[in-house]
Amino acid sequence: MPLCRADLELSDFAAVEARFNSDRPDAVIHCAAMSRSPDCQRDPVRARLWNVAVTEHLAALAGDRPFLFLSTDLVFDGRKGRYLEEDPVGPLSVYAETKVEAEIAVRRNPRHLVVRTSLNHGHSPTGDRGFNEEMLNAWRAGRELRLFTDEFRNPLPAEVTARALWELLAQEAFGVLHVAGSERLSRWEIGDALAQRHREAGPRLQPGTRRDYQGAPRAPDTSLDCGRAQDRLSFALPAYRAWLATHE
Ligand SMILES: NC(=O)c1ccc[n+]([C@@H]2O[C@H](COP(=O)([O-])OP(=O)(O)OC[C@H]3O[C@@H](n4cnc5c(N)ncnc54)[C@H](OP(=O)(O)O)[C@@H]3O)[C@@H](O)[C@H]2O)c1
Repeated sequence: MPLCRADLELSDFAAVEARFNSDRPDAVIHCAAMSRSPDCQRDPVRARLWNVAVTEHLAALAGDRPFLFLSTDLVFDGRKGRYLEEDPVGPLSVYAETKVEAEIAVRRNPRHLVVRTSLNHGHSPTGDRGFNEEMLNAWRAGRELRLFTDEFRNPLPAEVTARALWELLAQEAFGVLHVAGSERLSRWEIGDALAQRHREAGPRLQPGTRRDYQGAPRAPDTSLDCGRAQDRLSFALPAYRAWLATHE
């Protein structure tokens, strides 16, 4: 049964345990997180509670049931790109650090699964959580976006991520797997693809470069090698631009 914050505050450990014992789930997919990096930088204590302690607690409750934890490509520092599952992590932000710590907690049980994913294109109840929603909202508000041509991810549709997670869970996959789009794209290429698909939003974008950026450290290339997950899936992980051209 899907649960959200309105159903359960996951850091209320007693309430979670009571709910777990009454629902007796066959498996757990843990998607909840403080997922916005600036929020984590501002409040690292809460970020550790929600992202690490909550995950540790849920994994312990799950015991030997299948347990799937969603992590991020941002566990890597982005200096290499096309990361394999066993490549060393190098978190550059509080958000990424908490995800690394949560992964370690989940992997204490060798039957549990960590899935690292990249930027997910989707539609949130509040209309402002997905990267696609943020970009479209900015254009609709008349803002121009300057997007890096030299920072890379491999975006994928959230509906595809969900399908992959269900398949991997059904297979009782374990360890760490990478699930992301098959196309490595710069921020600018991602924005350009969205702009072409959403002319009605009045898109305005300029190419930018990391060389002109001053601020918190950013990972230049956290693209993921998803070969291992791909071998297990019944469908091809899509290339984002081809998917976008035929959806929405
Ligand atoms: N979206 C992406 O591009 C992306 C990329 C890589 C990895 N991921 C990972 O994928 C997962 C899902 O991402 P998402 O984009 O769906 O995140 P999201 O839009 O931020 O959703 C996370 C949900 O978790 C809830 N939540 C957080 N802490 C909670 C708590 N203590 N108790 C109850 N509910 C809590 C949030 O509720 P509130 O809204 O009330 O806080 C929110 O509804 C996360 O683990 C994220 O780190 C996402």
